[in-house]
Amino acid sequence: MTSTAVVGLQWGDEGKGKIIDHLAAKADVVIRFAGGNNAGHTVIVGDEKYVLHLIPGGILHEGTLNIIGRGLVVDLAALLEEMDGLIARGVPIADRLRIDGRAHVIFPYHRQLDAMSELCRGDAKIGTTGRGIGPAYSDKVARTGLRVVDLLHREHFEKRFRVALAEKQSLAEKVYGQELQDVDGLFEQMLEMVERIRPLVVDGGALAREAYAQGKSVLFEGAQGTMLDLDAGTYPFVTSSWTGVWGIAGGTGFPPNQLERALAVTKAYCTRVGEGPFPTELFDADGDMMAKVGHEFGATTGRPRRCGWFDAVQARYATQLNGLDGVYLTKLDVLSGFETIKMATAYRLGGETVTDFPAEAGVLGDLEPVYTEFPGWAEDITEVRCFADLPTNCQTYIRALEVELGVPAVQISVGPDRNQLFPGESSLVSAT
Ligand code: GDP
Ligand code: IMO
Ligand code: MG
Repeated sequence: MTSTAVVGLQWGDEGKGKIIDHLAAKADVVIRFAGGNNAGHTVIVGDEKYVLHLIPGGILHEGTLNIIGRGLVVDLAALLEEMDGLIARGVPIADRLRIDGRAHVIFPYHRQLDAMSELCRGDAKIGTTGRGIGPAYSDKVARTGLRVVDLLHREHFEKRFRVALAEKQSLAEKVYGQELQDVDGLFEQMLEMVERIRPLVVDGGALAREAYAQGKSVLFEGAQGTMLDLDAGTYPFVTSSWTGVWGIAGGTGFPPNQLERALAVTKAYCTRVGEGPFPTELFDADGDMMAKVGHEFGATTGRPRRCGWFDAVQARYATQLNGLDGVYLTKLDVLSGFETIKMATAYRLGGETVTDFPAEAGVLGDLEPVYTEFPGWAEDITEVRCFADLPTNCQTYIRALEVELGVPAVQISVGPDRNQLFPGESSLVSAT
């Protein structure tokens, strides 16, 4: 009987898709708890590549029930497209997928408002994925949002929808000076779409609690990363949900005191998509090499990811906040070939040295990283399958990273494929 959380330790795209798929092989239930189709989780199985946006990463495993938790905002058109894509590839969606009726719905007007709001911010834009995430969560908090269950009852839906639409039209016209597009026939289109998911709608929290009580194992899939969390992250350059372990109880309906293990995924370096503070960002040949070797382009929007050295100050902050038992260290293979590898272990801020991640990141100007340098390794490590076979310099780097975080690297990933993963060998105590 286990209940395990897997979250992103950095600014997203740490390789959660690969790790969730790996862990899901032994899970009975995989439930996602936050975000929407702003996420892009890649799973590589041999020659096949799957990019999941809303559907949890256990979907490729027989016998695993995958739940879109109540904390998500769901774009029905995007969900149906994703479902159809998987069905076309032989994945039995009806058997493996469920959707919590309390999850909120993203309407096309949310996407349009996302774009209008970004335009209005000008240079101060967030660089959102444009998927309507912020406006949909804003509606949820403002109590004008519609949940999946609200769409299942025509009259109730129509009443709520007309009120919501009228408000959004006023907002678009009076604040942004623009008209909402494609509103004619939208009600009927939404009704049609929701019919297709009606058979999948459940109380996801109840399912997860029952499964756990019956001794089954439940995996909680995070999206985005801790630094994109609404409260913990580099506000306002964050997403609109709770992406850390603390988001699980609210975003699923699973009691927090029954969560047994908390793990996070982190790259061996660091990336970020969109705007906002990124203390270790590189603008030189090293950054270009990371981007090139690591194929650092967003899985959702295709935007180039900003790249930089591993930031131990940021990662330690995220480790402590999430109460982690360990991390999955991914993309270590990308660091092969660097003569020197750097890791930020402190920052300089306004003449002071700081070792705790400051709330003022991006407020008082740039944080200047203080780096510890490590000799690199030249060897290709993508075929390595045990810790002892890693080059000595690589082992030293991993051990230093573990000491900075205070938790072990429980598994190490040296390539995108399922089999490019093996246990770490930390002397640090792990609950796993
Ligand atoms: P997620 O959002 O956290 O699921 O991560 P993404 O799927 O957006 O981005 C991670 C990318 O790195 C994907 O293209 C993965 O296939 C790839 N990947 C995952 N682990 C490794 C690894 O250890 N090495 C390399 N080279 N690529 C990896
Ligand atoms: P996964 O799950 C990386 C970023 C966007 C933008 C900010 C706000 O694949 O790791 P939003 O559309 O959520 O309002 O955008 O958050 N962002 C992500 N960056 N990976 C993600 O998800 C992201 N989801 C949102 O780029 O900076
Ligand atoms: Mg991603």
